[in-house]
Amino acid sequence: MPRFRPNVAAMEAYQPGEQPPAGAKVIKLNTNECPYPPSPKVAEAIRAELDAGAAPGDRLRLYSDPGATALRQAAAEAYGFPVECVLHGNGSDELLAMLMRAFVGEGESIAYAMPTYVLYETLANAQAAKIVTFDYGRDFALPQGLFGCDAKIVFVASPNSPSGTLYAKAELERLARSLPNGVLVIDEAYVAFAESDAMELAKKLPNVVVLRTFSKSHSLAGMRLGLLFGPKDLVAGLWKVKDSYNLDRLAIAAGAASLRDPNWTAANVAKVRATRARLSKELAALGLDVLPSQANFVFARMKDAATAEGAYRFLKAQGILVRYFPAPRLRLQDGLRVSVGTDAEIDALLAKLKEYLARG
Ligand SMILES: Cc1ncc(COP(=O)(O)O)c(C=O)c1O
Repeated sequence: MPRFRPNVAAMEAYQPGEQPPAGAKVIKLNTNECPYPPSPKVAEAIRAELDAGAAPGDRLRLYSDPGATALRQAAAEAYGFPVECVLHGNGSDELLAMLMRAFVGEGESIAYAMPTYVLYETLANAQAAKIVTFDYGRDFALPQGLFGCDAKIVFVASPNSPSGTLYAKAELERLARSLPNGVLVIDEAYVAFAESDAMELAKKLPNVVVLRTFSKSHSLAGMRLGLLFGPKDLVAGLWKVKDSYNLDRLAIAAGAASLRDPNWTAANVAKVRATRARLSKELAALGLDVLPSQANFVFARMKDAATAEGAYRFLKAQGILVRYFPAPRLRLQDGLRVSVGTDAEIDALLAKLKEYLARG
């Protein structure tokens, strides 16, 4: 067998949340998808793309637009950025990979606070980068160690996963200005569900990029679409490490259509936020320690790790998937992360959790 690079041989693969087969009868509250369908304009745009040309699907003979112009144009208009300051990715995951490839060499450092999105670690390991972490305290405030640290990239998910904590724009600005050589990547995958965002920093500071995804508030996790906003020169450099045709024709059409129907997305977000408030309150009433969340999920701690793991298994056996993080280094073993589903899904979850807790 050919030998992998030592860092690849030694690393663990990223473990995505469980994806049950299509048609499985489960209540899926484990990977923070939106429980409501995307804008009907999305399916219309996909159909139009398939119907264009001499025969159904004819356009698929041709490569997609490497610049995803229709999508970037719609994003530039929606967010008030020049189009040269917008880059498209196959999910924000691909944009994270591009950033890592472009900025971090072997042995160079990246930094983030723990626990957070585990993919930052996986991508750094693939790059043989040095990972510098600072532990979040129980309140999930940004650790002071991040400020002024000498890393090529500092990652902050805001709202963070799995805590749901939002970081104020002023604090993120202070962090960006404190970095001697580094890029601050503000991963705003969940920000549509929050009270405010830090997008303006990507316009104002030379070392800040903001990432957005279509997987949560746009209900398009299955299309794999992400966007990066940042200074023109920085975005131009990232193009060099981008796969040429990283978005397919259908994804480009879908993303542009969704951006052009903001009222649809806003209505879904409002429903999710209302259910989040109810879920948080009811979990607290069941005696769980619920972190205040600005995302489309809630993290709640139980009496101890055995209780939380037992709850995860019990719910799974009942056809309800939530996320349990067993890795000791994440210090999340006493909790569950529950994506905000429909009201009916959350009712089912609460009923089963109550049943589990009553069993003692
Ligand atoms: C913090 C964070 N960033 C990025 C992503 C990935 O998003 P995408 O589906 O756009 O790759 C996730 C997915 O769950 C996430 O939790």
